[in-house]
Amino acid sequence: MTDSWPHELLHWYCAHARDLPWRNPPGRQLPDDPDWPYRVWLSEVMLQQTTVEAATPYFHAFTSRWPTVSALAAADDADVMQAWAGLGYYARARNLLACARAVVERHGGRFPASETELRDLPGIGDYTAAAVAAFGFGRNAVVIDGNVERVVSRMFAIATPLPAARVAIRAALTPLVPQGQAGDFAQAMMDLARRVCTARTPRCLACPLIDSCAAHKAGTPGAFPVKAAKKARPTRQGTAWWIEAGGAVLTVLRPAKGLLGGMRALPSCDWRGESAPPLAGDWQTLGVVRHGFTHFDLELHVQALILPAKPAMTGEWLALGAVESAGMPTLFAKAARLGLAADDFRENKAA
Ligand code: ADE
Repeated sequence: MTDSWPHELLHWYCAHARDLPWRNPPGRQLPDDPDWPYRVWLSEVMLQQTTVEAATPYFHAFTSRWPTVSALAAADDADVMQAWAGLGYYARARNLLACARAVVERHGGRFPASETELRDLPGIGDYTAAAVAAFGFGRNAVVIDGNVERVVSRMFAIATPLPAARVAIRAALTPLVPQGQAGDFAQAMMDLARRVCTARTPRCLACPLIDSCAAHKAGTPGAFPVKAAKKARPTRQGTAWWIEAGGAVLTVLRPAKGLLGGMRALPSCDWRGESAPPLAGDWQTLGVVRHGFTHFDLELHVQALILPAKPAMTGEWLALGAVESAGMPTLFAKAARLGLAADDFRENKAA
């Protein structure tokens, strides 16, 4: 095995780098733009949540509406939560705002360049601090995400299972980072991992690093990174209530802390089994919506009640025509679609 593979990888990246709106093209000086690190940070927060393809339209929407970190810091919480809807995991959107505000308060509206100061900001962990330092400021940071872990664990055939393998991955990679090109190097590994060194059936014959790869030599590239046996995710049951009256449906804001915190939603129970509806009445079952959270799967049973007049209840009545564009998180948007489509039920009640 040779240690020249980082340079071979950079060479490959010059020809194959993806053109991404938050990415500096290979080999170029970083743009002379004080908001460049903001764009990098924003993209990184989004990419922790979703794929490059899904993040791209959100990235454009956010940067047109809030072109600077100061503009984002001054935004209304509800506008940001609504713009984030569909990306999932709303704690990130809350941290996004908290971080933007901390950059304005502590650093005068400019992201700091050092990993240590970056890590002190809300929602920024080791990975994001390294990514912003390298991609946003050209620092020699060691940037390791899941893609980089896959490439490095294969290059060195690291047999320790993840997450314990992270120590060995960092130790192997750190001395190899080409100084002055840490950002290109990490992004090259990310592109290689997605296009060539894929999780299943890697395309080793198309790989510029084939001659240096220990996993390829061993004939088992797909066996890396070694993963610890997974615990099964539990399935939880919950109920959401579609309460309709006078062409409107009752919506609530979820508590600020907790899953989907601060988001507009249908009233629902705590997702720990059956619970009594918020009103007595002739409830009808509309169906079940399934949704995967990080630590559990949810089966949300949607129950509906259509009333002749709006009862006095906490929440906001939303006209049925405004429900689809209300920025509800995916889980509740799916549940609301069942409510909107329940014409049989609505007509029976009206009759
Ligand atoms: N994933 C996270 N950051 C990325 C980047 N800058 N390019 C490609 N994939 C990424």
